Amino acid sequence: MPRFRRTTPAQPLVPVTIDGRAEELPEGEVLAAALLVGGKGRFSDSVLAGEPRGPLCLMGSCFQCVAEIDGTPQVRTCRTAVRAGMTVVLSAPSSGSK
Ligand code: FES
Repeated sequence: MPRFRRTTPAQPLVPVTIDGRAEELPEGEVLAAALLVGGKGRFSDSVLAGEPRGPLCLMGSCFQCVAEIDGTPQVRTCRTAVRAGMTVVLSAPSSGSK
């Protein structure tokens, strides 16, 4: 059973690419929420420890939900709406450098 479920009616699905795979997500939905409902919890890895990172605050404060979106690194997925054709890379390191 998924840890998260949708509590509002789903919007029409649009095509997106996530880690190189074609998927569909509800248009206009908060990207972090759509990914969590879809069963994704690991959005990036910490640079220093390699620990998995995922959404924590869901309001733009913690930066634990960052991912590469359309080639731009470190984008907060909790502050990004799903749109058709977007490309998301979840496996990028979350911040800093080694
Ligand atoms: S979940 Fe905290 S900034 Fe996105």
